[in-house]
Order: sequence, then structure tokens, then C-alpha cells
Amino acid sequence: MSTAKNDIKRITTHVLHAMKEKGEKISMLTAYDYSMAKILDEAGIDILLVGDSASNVMAGHETTLPITLEQMVYHAQSVIRGVNRSFVVVDLPFGSYQGNSTKALNSAITIMKESGAHAVKLEGGAEIEESVRRILSAGVPVMGHLGLTPQSIYKFGTYSVRAKEEAEAQKLIEDAKLLEEIGCFALVLEKIPATLGKKVSESLHIPVIGIGAGNGTDGQVLVVHDVLGITKDFHPRFLRRYLNLYDTIKTAVGQYISDVKSGDFPSEEEQY
Ligand code: KIV
Repeated sequence: MSTAKNDIKRITTHVLHAMKEKGEKISMLTAYDYSMAKILDEAGIDILLVGDSASNVMAGHETTLPITLEQMVYHAQSVIRGVNRSFVVVDLPFGSYQGNSTKALNSAITIMKESGAHAVKLEGGAEIEESVRRILSAGVPVMGHLGLTPQSIYKFGTYSVRAKEEAEAQKLIEDAKLLEEIGCFALVLEKIPATLGKKVSESLHIPVIGIGAGNGTDGQVLVVHDVLGITKDFHPRFLRRYLNLYDTIKTAVGQYISDVKSGDFPSEEEQY
């Protein structure tokens, strides 16, 4: 029996909080287009992140910095059309919220209004407090992001593990508490020691989703292109690849090329 669209219980911020309370882990993946979003939604993913990692995996840039608000809106609109159940979060891109809370509010409203997404994600702690407060005041749910924050890659200088030193770990803990206090509904922690990921998750009431933050967080997020093996030369310790689509697609396309060249395709049955 097929499930009618209206029968599907949508994931909301309330559902996510209840999952944390029950100790039910939250699954989250990135998505950037309609077709992939539809598959991930049907598979039962809880949260889809229209990540600014689209800048890397969709557009081929070296960092997440070049992607624009307009491009994020386009990706978010495409994802939303494929979704019936998942909660869709969209990254505010670099330059659309830092240092200017009015701009931040306008960027978040643009995303929500033009894409139909359910929440936005911003990187940073105390330094973006005013932007987060303004966005929350407009009724837009905000997910925080601490630890390795790729929009600050030129400040860090490397993609190595963050908050290994006591001072940085302490600042991360304070930022996490602040983001919860001012009203963020969830938090992403990227590439930090597992002990710190567990400690922060246990000390907050909001769900904490980790990427390279160990097994003690309330959920996990990965970039879908990495999980499916569409990307090839990226092997961080935290990544589990479930497929090798790079080679699978290459082999299939090689077969198609050879069938076209040999005249094998189309066959009698494949023509009118
Ligand atoms: O843009 C992205 O893919 C992200 C995840 C790494 C959390 O922010």
C-alpha cells in the first residue's frame, strides 16, 4: 500500500527535540538537487542540509567561500521540490551574514521566502550572536555550526581537527551554550575530539549533530557525494563510504559510449 502524501509525519524542530529526549539518533545528509533529495527523503533521512559544500561538490570550487545567496536559493528550491518528510536546513553562504545583522536577517528571509526551506544554518559563536538573534526574532529556526567552520578556512589555514587545545575547547563549549540560550534549535559540531563532542551533546538540551565529532553526539551528518563515493580523492578518518559511484558511473558511461560507437545501441526494441 502506498503512503498518501498527507499521511507522512513531517520532521519538525519539535520532532527533532523529542528524538534527542528519547535518545533516538538523528540522521542528516547534504542534498543540492531535486532528484537526490527525493531519494534521500524516501529513504527516510531526518534532516537534509542544503550545504554550502555545494560550492565544492557541485561547482568544483576549492572552498565554500565563492557560492552566492542566489545560488543557495536555487539549490534549496530544487531540494524542497523533492521532499515530503525531511526537515530542510539551508546554509547561509559566506558574506551573507557576518558582521551585519540586518544583512543576515535579509539573507535568511530571502532563503525562507524564495525556497520554502524550514531553517537556516550559520557558522560561528559569540561573534555572530547579533545576527543569530535577529534571524530568530523573525521566527526563522537557526542551526548553529561550531568546530571546523569551513567559511573561516583562511583564518584556520588548515582543515585539521579543531579544539584539541583547552582554550579552544572552552570557547567552543561557551559558544555552544550561548547558541542554545539565545534559541538555536540544533547545533552542528565539525571535526573536533570525540570526548568534546560527547561533552557538549550531554550538556545541551538541543540536538547536536556531528561530522567528525565522534559517536557521542545526538546525530551524524555527512556530505552525500562522499557517502556515495561520487567524490574520489577525499579520505578523512570520519568518512564512511557506502558506495563507489565514481567508478560505477564511469564504467556504465564507458559501456554506453562503446554501445553507441559500435551501433549496438539502440537495438530493434529501443526504436520506433
Ligand atoms: O556545507 C556542508 O556540507 C556542511 C556540513 C559539512 C555540515 O556544513
